[in-house]
Amino acid sequence: MGKELKIGVLISGSGSNLQSILDACACGKIAGRVVCVISNKADAFGLERAKKAGIPALHLDHRAYSGREAYDEALVASLREFGVELVVLAGFMRIITQVLLDAFPMRVMNIHPALLPAFPGLHAQRQALDYGAKVAGCTVHFVDCGCDTGPIIIQAAVSVIEGDTEDTLSARIQKEEHRIYPEAIRLFSEGALKVDGRVVTVRA
Ligand code: GRF
Repeated sequence: MGKELKIGVLISGSGSNLQSILDACACGKIAGRVVCVISNKADAFGLERAKKAGIPALHLDHRAYSGREAYDEALVASLREFGVELVVLAGFMRIITQVLLDAFPMRVMNIHPALLPAFPGLHAQRQALDYGAKVAGCTVHFVDCGCDTGPIIIQAAVSVIEGDTEDTLSARIQKEEHRIYPEAIRLFSEGALKVDGRVVTVRA
């Protein structure tokens, strides 16, 4: 059996993407395991999901630090303590800094609920509805120093249906999120992702 990838997941909320990753590890789809879950919010439900799975669940309150860099230094220290090799942002509502990126170069992934480069930033689903887009979706990408600008790993599209609200569209997009995030991590865990500038290719 090959080496198991050690995954650290950062969350702020419900953690449904975290759950899809935990499930994919549990059933052996991902050659790896989640070794720690860190939330900047004490009441994030994702912390309960981690505890239920027997995984260390930490609350690191960003308000206890002097700034973004200082907070990221604390994150890096915790992630290193657990031997994390891949950092997975799953609904982590913080802008991360170069401190985290330098510690884990091309080893930080994020999921965004839009087909990037369309609708970066907050409330992506609402942006898509307000714009009148007919196709929406989600993107897993490596994180770089920009806002939702890093190299794209996998995208999935969903139709926008007449009468969609932010909630109905978000639910349809999340179904796809729960499919493509574990898939992107699986590819990474198998060493199948090659990054050339902006372009990510999958080795056969
Ligand atoms: C997802 O919609 C994801 O695309 C965005 O934040 C949300 C997190 O949801 N980055 P959950 O906490 O994984 O349920």
